[in-house]
Amino acid sequence: MALGSPFGTFRPPNISPDPVDGIGRWTPVDLANALVGGVSPEREHYYPAFPYTSFTGMTAGDIRDLYAYLMTLPKVSGRAPPHHPSILFRIRRFVGFWKLLFFREGQSEARLSGEPIHDRGAYLVESISHCAECHSSRNVFGAIKPDTRFAGGVDPQGTGFVPNITQQDLGKSSEQDISTMLKTGDTPDHGRVGSSMADVVTNTAMLPDSDRDAIARYIKALPALPTPEP
Ligand code: HEC
Repeated sequence: MALGSPFGTFRPPNISPDPVDGIGRWTPVDLANALVGGVSPEREHYYPAFPYTSFTGMTAGDIRDLYAYLMTLPKVSGRAPPHHPSILFRIRRFVGFWKLLFFREGQSEARLSGEPIHDRGAYLVESISHCAECHSSRNVFGAIKPDTRFAGGVDPQGTGFVPNITQQDLGKSSEQDISTMLKTGDTPDHGRVGSSMADVVTNTAMLPDSDRDAIARYIKALPALPTPEP
């Protein structure tokens, strides 16, 4: 697929276990370096279109499990066409500079409360499902503006505005409403979520109820923030 953005068009690579075109020769450590450090086995910086800014908070155990699962998938040959980064990002080394400014390796944005369901939700929302990567506004370098985290922003693909999911706008939805939406796509006002959120629901629909409930608890605990101007 092609991921459009103001910073160019990025094409997610082959991550099947094909040894030539995919990641079949990677070790579990290579996968950990990609997810947590944003670097390839050749020590190249990945573009943050690959949301390692969120995955960096993943636990070593989950990365090991993910590796084991990925290696059971069918090998698919073929490579994605090259990225077309904007002029700013055409030099890969600039991505290293970007990371110095905006990336904190191993640091999760999760706000923990000590309550197990809430804290499980924090991990799923911040590190795994990377909800903030879409539901926030970005600065001119494409990094999330911290004071807009979860408060909404222009869709990176340029197809509209991703809604505010802090209590500013979701105050009327209950935890159960949010959990149901993540399972069925249905919203409390008898609508359905569409655009890229429909793809998210395809995935969250496969989670156990307990994980959807945990995500909902964390989302309901996000303090209200004003919706930024597009
Ligand atoms: C790929 C981008 C993307 C990701 C990742 C994403 N969302 Fe969304 N989300 C959207 C878009 C776009 C909409 C608006 C859909 C519409 O208008 O039909 C939306 C809508 C929503 C809504 C409905 C808001 C309302 O005002 O009705 C909620 C709640 C929501 N998302 C929660 C989440 C949660 C929780 C996660 C993480 C598990 C998440 N989203 C991850 C793009 C995303």
